[in-house]
Amino acid sequence: MTTQTPSTQDVQKSPHVTADDYARLYAASVNDPDTFWAEHGQRIDWIKPFTKVKNTSFTPGNIDIRWFEDGALNVSANCIDRHLAERGNQTAIIWEPDDPTKEDAQHITYADLHRSVSKMANVLKDLGVARGDRVIIYLPMIPEAAYAMLACTRIGAIHSIVFAGFSPDALGARINGCDAKVVITADYAPRGGRETPLKSNTDTALLHCKEGLKCLVVKRTGGQTTWTDRDYDCNALMAEASDDCPPQEMNAEDPLFILYTSGSTGQPKGVVHTTGGYLVYAAMTHEIVFDYHEGDVFWCTADVGWVTGHSYIVYGPLANGATTIMFEGVPTFPDAGRFWEVCAKHKVNQFYTAPTAIRALMGAGKEWVEKHDLSDLRVLGSVGEPINPEAWNWYNEVVGKGNCPIVDTFWQTETGGHMLTPLPGATKLKPGAAQQPFFGVHPVVLEPTSGEVVEGNGVEGVLCIADSWPGQMRTVWGDHERFEKTYFGDYKGYYFSGDGCRRDEDGDYWITGRVDDVINVSGHRMGTAEVESALVAHAKVAESAVVGYPHDVKGQGIYAYVTLMNGEEPSDALRKELEVWVRTEIGPIAKPDLIQWAPGLPKTRSGKIMRRILRKIAEDDFGALGDTSTLADPSVVDDLIANRMNRA
Ligand code: WTA
Repeated sequence: MTTQTPSTQDVQKSPHVTADDYARLYAASVNDPDTFWAEHGQRIDWIKPFTKVKNTSFTPGNIDIRWFEDGALNVSANCIDRHLAERGNQTAIIWEPDDPTKEDAQHITYADLHRSVSKMANVLKDLGVARGDRVIIYLPMIPEAAYAMLACTRIGAIHSIVFAGFSPDALGARINGCDAKVVITADYAPRGGRETPLKSNTDTALLHCKEGLKCLVVKRTGGQTTWTDRDYDCNALMAEASDDCPPQEMNAEDPLFILYTSGSTGQPKGVVHTTGGYLVYAAMTHEIVFDYHEGDVFWCTADVGWVTGHSYIVYGPLANGATTIMFEGVPTFPDAGRFWEVCAKHKVNQFYTAPTAIRALMGAGKEWVEKHDLSDLRVLGSVGEPINPEAWNWYNEVVGKGNCPIVDTFWQTETGGHMLTPLPGATKLKPGAAQQPFFGVHPVVLEPTSGEVVEGNGVEGVLCIADSWPGQMRTVWGDHERFEKTYFGDYKGYYFSGDGCRRDEDGDYWITGRVDDVINVSGHRMGTAEVESALVAHAKVAESAVVGYPHDVKGQGIYAYVTLMNGEEPSDALRKELEVWVRTEIGPIAKPDLIQWAPGLPKTRSGKIMRRILRKIAEDDFGALGDTSTLADPSVVDDLIANRMNRA
């Protein structure tokens, strides 16, 4: 499995980091992090310079992470103001609308961005938002989403973005979870030719939130919405607002944003990132991993509702003074050539997407790619899930024409930026491997049961990180104990990623997927517990167990075993009803792909559901069920096998 593609290392012209640089700089970064990060801390502008660099502890009972802790800065000033003198007229954001037959792209310069962000910041202030207050952003992929993020950072408010595909219930839970003061939304969100009624979703969510919350509404389509006393017209208020809003001085460790993400247990948790370390890390990884050079046009196809959009559409690129593309649409609308049309139109140099999109487009055929001039592409990126070699090869040959290194970047909402990744021009690529740690990242492979460190190469285990890096999350919002327990509870002294990995004979890392009850559907993280609790909230459902199974396009699909209440009859109509139910409880991304009616679930005598068995059946691999002797009622398994939904 260690096939090497020699072609792509040599095609990178004057990369920021060569193979020799990598070895030297990596050693320096882990041997003497204080010196290394003191230097890289200078990538951004400080209002008050830091004198301390790293002050971090992974000691059980005292997980405490601080970087640059006595420095002061402002993120929006770093992403906007400091570029004005040199590149006020350079495009900061290219916005591509959902439907190119109806609207044109917009080019927003750094000077425009400065004006709009300052205005929106003043609007937020007028609504009573102050430093430290939380603001929920529930917007389509429109420039106002970036303005809103940066406006919050300008006044020191903490934003929490909720993906526009989430339901009113999920939105409400996040508004309450961080006790937000204001929600910024839009009338509708166009996507793939359809429209999601964001304002009406927000109205529904707010029925379950405290009084006094304000709602700032951006006009996107101009479609009809209801209007109440708590609603404010963002476009009108921005038109009148002053465009002068001095950036607030923030401490490096002040929270920058909260982003809710799924874990293996319970409801999503609010991952907290802070100001200084996060920005240094986002900016540095953006520059080095994508080999970004002055003047390049960078496109990350993610949504700002996910961490990838935070770090690599907004904060990293803008901190580096780049031109970043913000794309409202989907890869297959109006047709399967949309990505490549946008790449050609804007002469994109670095393109960053998810394996699920690549697989979907691969299925549509290479003629969609070949229609467009992709000669400006230099680096391709992949994120969100392991990329299978077939998709990797197609990406390399059909999109990159064998000339563009592919950076397979492994990271997480919790890590703020890339953790394991090849570097263009420095790494001999291996299809499907995330390969090497980024600077300052100290990966270790642990034996899953004993927690012993596994030394040497050609080994497998769980992936942990031995020491802190600046982009690391600091806590779970309002629940530091949960932070300690989730990430430091299983393996003392280490940050536990939740992923399994293999370190091959050359020392390169391969991510083998989650080892906990998190599944990865189309590159989106989903906790099986969340889907289960949505299902059992339905009046006809007694019990449910949800697992992932291999899916050709999505990577993993959602497989739900459902036990109905006594007296309820299974039917196709009920199956549909449950699908719709989960969509409304969480959102379309959580809809089960397969629902199997289960008269009973395999449980141990102490009542624990044996998920290992359920996973095997969902994978259509029931020949290898392993030991079932501890089951309370082994006959349950025979029924589940006989009625399994996923057959080759
Ligand atoms: C998975 C997305 C393999 C992994 C930035 C991780 C990957 C989870 C890769 C985090 C990759 C992400 N190769 N697996 N290159 N990138 N993952 O928080 O399981 O949405 O734990 O962050 O996605 O998902 P999250």
